[in-house]
Amino acid sequence: MPDKKNISSPLELYAAAISGTERVLCDELRELGFSSVRLNRGGVPFRGTWEDGWRACLQSRIAARIQALMLRFPAPNQDALYKGVQQVDWTPYITHETTISVSAVCIGSAINHSGFAALKVKDAIVDQIRDENGERPSVDKEDADVKIFLYVANNKAAVYLDMSGSALHKRGYRSQTGEAPLKENLAAAMLRIAEWDRETPLLDPMCGSGTIAIEAAQWAANIAPGLARDRFGFERWANFDSEDEQAMRELRGKLRGEVSGQTPKITASDIDGEILEIAKRNARAAGVKLAFKQRAVADLQSSGQRTFIVTNPPYGTRLETDADTCRGIMAAFSRLHGTRLAILGGSPDYERTMSKKPKFKVKIPNGDIKCDLLVYEIK
Ligand SMILES: C[S@@+](CC[C@H](N)C(=O)[O-])C[C@H]1O[C@@H](n2cnc3c(N)ncnc32)[C@H](O)[C@@H]1O
Repeated sequence: MPDKKNISSPLELYAAAISGTERVLCDELRELGFSSVRLNRGGVPFRGTWEDGWRACLQSRIAARIQALMLRFPAPNQDALYKGVQQVDWTPYITHETTISVSAVCIGSAINHSGFAALKVKDAIVDQIRDENGERPSVDKEDADVKIFLYVANNKAAVYLDMSGSALHKRGYRSQTGEAPLKENLAAAMLRIAEWDRETPLLDPMCGSGTIAIEAAQWAANIAPGLARDRFGFERWANFDSEDEQAMRELRGKLRGEVSGQTPKITASDIDGEILEIAKRNARAAGVKLAFKQRAVADLQSSGQRTFIVTNPPYGTRLETDADTCRGIMAAFSRLHGTRLAILGGSPDYERTMSKKPKFKVKIPNGDIKCDLLVYEIK
């Protein structure tokens, strides 16, 4: 069990990921200097300290959440689950004034109802705090101070404390969006999967609220994605005291000092002038400089320079598209020689109507829509 106060005590951490982005999340966490980073389906376990967990929340562009493992134990039934959760001392994190929420995932186990399993975990925690204080914490499903995650697989339970609070894709710069905005961490993952080098000029010609271009500019300028966030989950735990606040201030200050002003040309364009105004506001809030242009994809011209295009075209139920629209968009791209194109196609028509085969593709869901990130080298 982790030492609850010493911010340098060793911990097993877990970075939850959007499916399909685990490999690039591994690369990112290794680059950020975290140790024992391992590739898993659905997320990336690594080792570190509580302070490393803070840093991962601040610096990971791709993780959906950062969680700290509290305990693993056999859980063949609900009773064992209750007893296992009670072995953890929750009092450093939770008081009777703290709100909590529990989420559970159960796979291939006798405990197979995630709703009941979450209730059991909640009861075990609430009973422990009530026995300690005489009063019980309450549940807040929307915005709990402390979020607990339970995974049960093959009758073995793992209980995690969520360090992030609200999901990490919520950077705080996007006050307005269009109809089908992309999660910020998915945009960041697309840039890495596309193998963008942070030096070559980059264009998102269907930029919507500007997410991909903003993520690219923040990455190139080494702006830590969590710097604009109000508070992370761990900052709401009962044991987060003034010494921790000071350590967190210092960490934020250090990361601010590592921001570089140098970025390549990053252009955000869209056919829709209104959405471009939103993208401009979001870029200002994110502290990045982009070039903006109102323009249709059909009017794109080759710049004669090596360029990356990373984009998220319209598709699916939110923005209707047909094969002709897809064909028109892909035909315009196929004329841009010297371009690396990464397009998150949520309709099979994007791949079907392209005259070339993708260099590679990665399956990534965008919300509830099955997508392929298609990567082309246009010679
Ligand atoms: C799925 S949205 C992009 C969302 C964006 N990634 C974000 O995070 O907000 C697709 C965008 O493509 C734009 N669009 C559609 N057809 C276009 C075209 N032919 N040329 C340029 N932009 C187009 C739409 O106006 C819309 O903003």
